[in-house]
Order: sequence, then C-alpha cells, then structure tokens
Amino acid sequence: MKNYVLTPGPVPVPEFVMLEMAKPIIHHRTSEFEEIFYKATLGLKKVFMTNEEVLILASSGTGAMDAAVSNTLSKGDSALVVNGGKFGERWAKICNAYGVNVIELKVEWGKAVKVKDIEKALDDNKEIKAILIQASETSTGVEHPIEEISKITKNRDDVLLVVDGITAVGAFPVEFDKWGIDILIGGSQKAFMLPPGLAFISLSQKAWNFYEKSDLPKFYLDLKQAYKNSLKKTSPWTPAVNLVMGLNAVLEYFDKLGLDNLFKRHTVMSEATIKGFESIGLENFAPGCSSTALSVIKSPEHINAGEIIKGLKNKYGMIVAGGQDQAKGKIFRITHMGYVDKGDMISVIAGVENILQELKYDFTPGLGVSTASNILDQL
Ligand SMILES: Cc1ncc(COP(=O)(O)O)c(C=O)c1O
Repeated sequence: MKNYVLTPGPVPVPEFVMLEMAKPIIHHRTSEFEEIFYKATLGLKKVFMTNEEVLILASSGTGAMDAAVSNTLSKGDSALVVNGGKFGERWAKICNAYGVNVIELKVEWGKAVKVKDIEKALDDNKEIKAILIQASETSTGVEHPIEEISKITKNRDDVLLVVDGITAVGAFPVEFDKWGIDILIGGSQKAFMLPPGLAFISLSQKAWNFYEKSDLPKFYLDLKQAYKNSLKKTSPWTPAVNLVMGLNAVLEYFDKLGLDNLFKRHTVMSEATIKGFESIGLENFAPGCSSTALSVIKSPEHINAGEIIKGLKNKYGMIVAGGQDQAKGKIFRITHMGYVDKGDMISVIAGVENILQELKYDFTPGLGVSTASNILDQL
C-alpha cells in the first residue's frame, strides 16, 4: 500500500528535491556552498516579498517563533497574543517562558480575529510592544486578516507586528514590505515542500530597533549573528547543508512556476476540497476565513472524525490530521501545501466518501468527488 502524507505539515517532498538533497555533502565554509546559501536567501526574499534579509535557521518553525520574541522584547514587556488555536497558544507559552507579559485576545476557534478587537486591545493597553499572531492558524484552518492589522501598526514605531506565517508563506501572498510587517516566519515542511528542519525569518528595520533594546537571553538564535553572517553568504553555525541545497531546488522551481501560479494551486485545491465536502453535507470549520494552505472539515454529527481518520489510514494509507483539544474528534485537516496535486485531492475525498458509506452516513456517493473534480479542472 502506498503512503499518502496529506497532513498540513510535514508534506510530501517532490523527487527532484529529494535527489538534490541526496547529493554528496558540501563543506559549509566553502565558496561553493556560500553561493548556494546566498542564492537561497535571494529566492526567499521573493517569496517573503521583501528586500530585507531573510534568515535561514536550522530549527523547526517554533525556533523562529522563539527567536522573534527573544530578539525583540524585554523581560516585563507586554505582548498582545491573538489566540484562536494551538499556535496562537504557543505564542503565549513562549512569552511566559521569557517573562513577557501576555495580554491575550481569545478568538473562537474557526473564526478570524476582528481588527476592531485588536484596535481596542491596543487602546486599552498602551504598554503593548508587539502583536503576536498567525497568518494561517493551522489547528483551525483560519486565515487572520494580516493586511488589515498591518495598517494599524505600520505607522507606529512603538508596536511590532509579528506574524507566524509558517503555513502561509509560499501558500498565499503575505506581503512583508508592502504591508509593513515587522517579523515574518516561514517553515520548510509546509509550502516550501521540504523535510522539517529549516525556519525562515525576516525582520523590518523597526524590529531591528527593538533588537537593540531587547534584554532577553539569546545565543544560538541570536538573529543579529544570523543577519551579519547572511550578508557574508553564510550562517553563524553549521547550517543544515543538504536542506539548504533542497531549498534552492524548490526556490528555482517556484521561480519557474511563478508565485501567482503557486498561490493559485493552493486556492483551487482549497476551493475544490471545501465545496466537494460541502456538497455531501460536511461543513468547512472556518467558513469565510479559510486559509488556502489547508482545508479543515467538520465530521458529520454523530460521527467521530477519528473514525474517518483511522479508516483513511487503514484502508488507503492516507494520513490526514485530526483536531486537538476542543476540536478533537470533530474535524479532519488536509494539506494543500507541498507536493500534492488534484489526484491527491480527488483520492482523499473519494476515500472519505467510502469510509462515510461504511459508517452509514446518508449522502449521494460520488457527489463530493465530482464537485471537487469540476473545480480542480482549473489546474
Ligand atoms: C502555524 C504554525 N505555527 C507554528 C508551527 C510550529 O512549527 P514547528 O512544528 O515546525 O516547530 C506550525 C507547525 O505545524 C504551524 O502550522
């Protein structure tokens, strides 16, 4: 049986990227590797839509989230954490670990934060130094309105907009320079269709000004070190050499495909998956604010999503993600990031339909597949 990894990270990696990473190791302190590293940083700037340096860290995405806090804030500072899911919650945990005071803006799971609530929180708490948020909250499938929020922070020197774009960058446009984002983070095992192990982070000049005042401890993830070395086409510590080689292959591919086409792939797969499931009565968990990086679908009433997830794995070798905490047993999550295509989307919808028939759910078999298939014809 084939294995289909259809989770919103890690995602399948294309063969041409695997082959690139299978090449013999290159020593990192050589001009040969420095050119590869430099080329990757140039490619990343295009995806981040910025002229600032994009730093490549040998860590998972959380490492870059940790660095965003430790490099810009100080003990006792206050941060506004938008918490509408597990990754919003993670911002709060990181702040707590560093002694940063968390002002939490709770958002109902499956809903996007309201810009006016952010405005109000900033008005009520003048001490807030940073807004910590996700562009795409992977636990709920919600896209938060980053462009709108950036309009509040762009012309304020005293508040940073720190965006976890781990399942956003590369999946849909997050315009760092144009919107005036202060920190943006991406991760390798998501839309960059690489194995886990790299995080990417970019800082605005305003964020670097905060760096100068920050008193939180930092060493391995001291971003100034990473920045200075990046200008010299290298990194302060041994980089994840073969992952960076793979990254270069991915970025070359993105360049050939064009960012608009890359984003369109995600949009079409997302629309097809959501409409496909809706046509057989399964609801979108994040209506009106779905991130196109993944689809989060509610299982029918009286059917535990765990049954669907288990059935997909046992019968078809398809791995999709479930829900956590309050969403456990209620949702399943399917990636549109990585080396997945229309065939994968059709297969997983067909697989779910089959499991639902076994679970005696009443619907028109085949309707989800045909609805999705018509939309996927755009690709
Ligand atoms: C939105 C978001 N933030 C943060 C993370 C954490 O990244 P990592 O698991 O690479 O540390 C993830 C990973 O799933 C994510 O989807």
